[in-house]
Amino acid sequence: MEKLARNNAAQVLDALGARLAFERTGVMLYDTVIDKINRLGEPRYHFLLGQLRRNREEEKEHEEWLEEQIRALGGSAHEITTLSQLEVEESAGIVSVIVDGHVKVLHLLHALLAAELADNAGWDVLVALAGAAGDGAAKRAFKKRLHEEMKHLLFLRQAVIAGAKVEILGQPMARSLKKWAGAALLGAGALAAGAFLIAKRA
Ligand SMILES: [Fe+2]
Ligand SMILES: [Fe+2]
Repeated sequence: MEKLARNNAAQVLDALGARLAFERTGVMLYDTVIDKINRLGEPRYHFLLGQLRRNREEEKEHEEWLEEQIRALGGSAHEITTLSQLEVEESAGIVSVIVDGHVKVLHLLHALLAAELADNAGWDVLVALAGAAGDGAAKRAFKKRLHEEMKHLLFLRQAVIAGAKVEILGQPMARSLKKWAGAALLGAGALAAGAFLIAKRA
């Protein structure tokens, strides 16, 4: 991380602070979605809880790892930076949907999918920045977490599709689940292709 921050420490701390702000929000979003599905969601959605909890633990690891990196570069893990403020403002609508009013499981999953799309894009930028700065160690560390985010995104995408089939087409969840398993396999292929493109880049 030192090489990446050597000539641009304040800007790199700003970018890391932005990711940290989003990861903190992400942990809170997962906690809220898990709690709402557990208490209020129809039982047909309870099969999602295990993977949602695993995703939440990875978001927590990302948060704690970013705090460590920021402190190692001499920054404060609780400072509000320009980009962290941007992330907070951008995610305000998602937080509003998940934390306030909405209890319908498909709405919660849809909002979480939007959060994961933004989260993936954020880590993707960090991987590219580390590559452009020639910081191989930072790039590998960012890429490891980007790959975890890509899996979160695939899972949420398939969960929203499964929920939409139930809610919009009236298909029973069992039928959707069968297709979901197949789509997950296709998704794993897309994930591998995406990881290959990222590995080739920068
Ligand atoms: Fe994340
Ligand atoms: Fe994520």
